Amino acid sequence: MTFAIVSRTLLVLLLTVGHVGLWVWLYNRINATGLHRRTIKRIEKCIVLACAVIPIALVYLEFRSGDSGTGFSEWSAAFLKRSLWDATTYPTKIYGTVVLVFTVVFGPIWLAHRPAFSIAKHRFRVLQRHVDPPMHRENPTWVSGSLTRQCLKLPLNEILSVERNIKQLMIERLPEDFSGMRIGHLSDIHLTGQLTADFYRTAVEWVMAQGIDVLVVSGDIVDYKHAMGLLSPVFGELDPAIPKIFVLGNHDRAYGLVDDVRIGLCEMGWFDAGALDLKLWTPRGLLKVYGNELPWLRRHSSPEIEPLAPEEHASFVLGVSHSPDQFEWGRDRGCHLLLCGHTHGGQIRFPWIGPLVAPSWYGSRYASGVFHRSPTLMHVSRGLSGVHPLRWGCTPEATVLEVVTALAKNGTPRSNVYQST
Ligand SMILES: [Fe+2]
Repeated sequence: MTFAIVSRTLLVLLLTVGHVGLWVWLYNRINATGLHRRTIKRIEKCIVLACAVIPIALVYLEFRSGDSGTGFSEWSAAFLKRSLWDATTYPTKIYGTVVLVFTVVFGPIWLAHRPAFSIAKHRFRVLQRHVDPPMHRENPTWVSGSLTRQCLKLPLNEILSVERNIKQLMIERLPEDFSGMRIGHLSDIHLTGQLTADFYRTAVEWVMAQGIDVLVVSGDIVDYKHAMGLLSPVFGELDPAIPKIFVLGNHDRAYGLVDDVRIGLCEMGWFDAGALDLKLWTPRGLLKVYGNELPWLRRHSSPEIEPLAPEEHASFVLGVSHSPDQFEWGRDRGCHLLLCGHTHGGQIRFPWIGPLVAPSWYGSRYASGVFHRSPTLMHVSRGLSGVHPLRWGCTPEATVLEVVTALAKNGTPRSNVYQST
């Protein structure tokens, strides 16, 4: 009897985890599509509703009293005496089977790609890390919106505790002259009007002051029309000697601000890698930049990958994509480094488990961090902000990436290591 109770309780727990996992899985994939934000929001509501209503409905069917149902005491007696299968109604049988199959098939894959297993620990090290104290308590001038002000009252909400970090990345095939190059990487700025320009500008100026060769913003820059006025105070009047590059993200498209943001940044001297591939001549040599705004924004013409001219072989190839789902695209173009955002690190990271929700075809696998698949190293930023001012265990970040040559075990540069898979 004890064994029956334990095993059946474990099975119910497994089904509960599988049920939540199934709908989170769907939620992540829907948000990875290029569907319009309004459509995605509608589907999201259906997903949340289904996740809440299905178990309630099934429990009701199991425990209802009357001619066609059983009361709780009859059901629990049946549960213990007969097999679980016999004790349940057909809707529970069908849905339970679906959930169980999903859990058995996808559960091990999900576990195998937890951050502890998938982050390329051998390809980077953190040189410096500083987390701002919760500045909202001392510096309320950073908050201008009531939603953020209310959310900041929640215990341990990290939305303003920006981590400023410098990470060293080990890059294979790195052209010698680019060793030591520093790239400022910011993502998911989300100008909503909830935070003042000071908040964002503090992060931008810190990155600019770290001796960077180039600054990159990988999408989701402005959310609402009324926040367009923040663009210039945040991104204007920066050192003109440092190239500044951007691509747009899904939020820039959501409210029809694509042209406004592109024009606004270009007028301030920024390079639009989403519209055109770039060749920038820097003191270190030629920096080739490929931009990608898929699946939300498509270029009018999508040129074939140009073969490198002889004088370009010593160039550094940088990919910039809003979504980390473009990892394969970056590899196809031979990017040394691919910079992404979009997933916000999951916004809530649980101890041991890590993030659960991330808008990607890969779920939370690439929620944030450094990932390697030869020949490309991908850095996914946790982003600087978000439309939902909620973060736990997942501080916003402003990052400087310093690239150095990856060494083989015998100490020689990994210059000839190029695997096609
Ligand atoms: Fe974002």
